[in-house]
Amino acid sequence: MLYVNAQVAAWMRAAGMTVRQDHLGNLIGRYAARDPQARTLLLGSHLDTVRDAGKYDGPLGVMIALACVEQLHARQERLPYALEVVAFADEEGLRYHGGYLGSSVFAGTFDPVMLQRRDADDIPLAEAIRAFGGDPDALAVDQRAADDLLGYCEVHIEQGPVLEARELPVGVVSAIQGQSRFAVRFTGVAGHAGTVPWALRRDAVAAAAQFVLAVEAQARTREGLMATVGQFVVFPGASNVIPGQVALSLDVRHPEDAAREEACQELRRQAEQIAMTRQLALAWDFQGASTSVACAPRFIGLLTRAIAQQGLPALALASGAGHDAVSLAGITDVAMLFVRCAGGVSHNPAESVTVEDVAVAIAVLEGFLTRLADEEGGGA
Ligand code: HGY
Ligand code: MN
Ligand code: MN
Repeated sequence: MLYVNAQVAAWMRAAGMTVRQDHLGNLIGRYAARDPQARTLLLGSHLDTVRDAGKYDGPLGVMIALACVEQLHARQERLPYALEVVAFADEEGLRYHGGYLGSSVFAGTFDPVMLQRRDADDIPLAEAIRAFGGDPDALAVDQRAADDLLGYCEVHIEQGPVLEARELPVGVVSAIQGQSRFAVRFTGVAGHAGTVPWALRRDAVAAAAQFVLAVEAQARTREGLMATVGQFVVFPGASNVIPGQVALSLDVRHPEDAAREEACQELRRQAEQIAMTRQLALAWDFQGASTSVACAPRFIGLLTRAIAQQGLPALALASGAGHDAVSLAGITDVAMLFVRCAGGVSHNPAESVTVEDVAVAIAVLEGFLTRLADEEGGGA
């Protein structure tokens, strides 16, 4: 095992779990139930991050799940269901622009066409999986059988300002909004910055910049719509060369799937219009999408009561960010607990949480496990 997986695997073993890494690189620690036939509750989140990230988006959820199992192990307690702590690989989609890579393999929704996709250094995904100790030809066997699963519960930093504004350490997630990602390319003609007359210039940056502002205008005027151009690469990228090509990313989100899809179509129409007016070529490549997902009412109820047990009001809030829970919702009931983060800051090195809030989150997750154990036949 390599990198962070080796370290987390050691912590999992120390907490009484048996550990394996699947063929994609997801790390799975299992804490057996009293009854070997019992179903499995999944806990976890992801260990990958965005570029220049904070420390908590993803890893916090794995660490809190691990802390709960550590405490069960210390007390030599077994639950009426097995627990698995799953540390998913590549949730963010930074390298291959898919998102939910690990959890899609786990949930059986991974599209093998992705294996041919290449990163910025021209390395195909299949090769990257092998380099991490995985096997791209064996991913299908990692799909989890739905009938063995009791559900999936993920703890995550909120990545927004709501809990802080309400002075609450934790909150219960009601739903997670859907998202679509595209790779967009405007191709014009590279030329000399000092000599090509205006009538002949086919400037890809000017077109792409116009599109970025159209994206912003669209999102600002449509209720609930978020749209972001996060990558913007100029070719050939020299100060005295008219840009011949721009490759950019587009991320579109909305709580309602139909509104998100309509916005994507509208943005594509606008990109086509800009390209046509400026006599450029446009390539519009779909990279992946997920629909919005509702958390399971049964689990929302259990988390709500576990929060109340800490003497706190249980605020329900929707997630604007995507999570592995979206993939897992295809095969089992999902729940999420959010933890307050300073200033709502995330995808930024300034991401932070307090030790006190994390302690509350651990206590709430323990309360959730105990209540679920009561419902499943016998307290913890
Ligand atoms: O992009 C997202 O919403 C998440 O942080 N993966
Ligand atoms: Mn993230
Ligand atoms: Mn995350």
